[in-house]
Amino acid sequence: AEKQVLAGKKILVTAGPTQERIDPVRYLTNYSSGKMGYAIAEAAAQMGAEVTLISGPVSLATPNRVKRIDVESTKDMYQAVMDHFPSQDIVIKSAAVADYRPTIQANEKIKKQSEQMTIALEKTEDILKTLGQKKTSQFLVGFAAETTNVRQYGKKKLVEKNLDAIVINDVSKQGIGFGSDDNEVLILINDGSEIQINKTSKVAIARQLLTEISHRLEGEKQ
Ligand code: PMT
Repeated sequence: AEKQVLAGKKILVTAGPTQERIDPVRYLTNYSSGKMGYAIAEAAAQMGAEVTLISGPVSLATPNRVKRIDVESTKDMYQAVMDHFPSQDIVIKSAAVADYRPTIQANEKIKKQSEQMTIALEKTEDILKTLGQKKTSQFLVGFAAETTNVRQYGKKKLVEKNLDAIVINDVSKQGIGFGSDDNEVLILINDGSEIQINKTSKVAIARQLLTEISHRLEGEKQ
């Protein structure tokens, strides 16, 4: 059996997309499959952690020994994350959260009318930013999905959201990122270290990320 480097640690992982309702039959969302977040939850459980997985709508099986909470919208995810945050040691936000939602969620199906239509949108809660403001001892990890200036934009999120680490993926590249079994990431840690992981399975990336985090937690104890 492998070494239980995360034994006794509580870890919260978010995964998948959020869905923002337009009317009873339509919603806005993105291409997240949940694979990245589920790989992290699975690896964390195998490394001995007590794992809570807050998941948007995906079609993946719940990993063994993982407590899963299903949510739909950003608002639901915000609430579930805030409820569980205080007791956690590590929080990893791999979910692809909608930045905007329809200002009005229609109760009835919207009928076809003119040639063009506009849907008004409002900003959603920034879950990660709120966590950065509230955090006490938690090791807080964000993700950044970028298509250009990936390092620079990722670094900006690390600093502005008060994170301990950020995992940056260039989602404009083929074969990685949204929906793929593989990913390629640059991890920036707030102690200045940088870890580049070339294209490999999301499970392998999850294990490496968690190993790096466990080293940082060990370091704190000394
Ligand atoms: O699910 P897969 O198909 O496996 O794909 C994996 C992935 C590409 C979705 C994943 O690797 C990834 O990059 N996840 C983050 C996607 C994202 O929303 O990135 P962002 O740069 O828009 O957001 C930055 C961070 O803020 C993220 O940690 C996000 O969870 C968080 N956020 C964003 C908006 C918001 N309102 N609240 C948030 O907490």
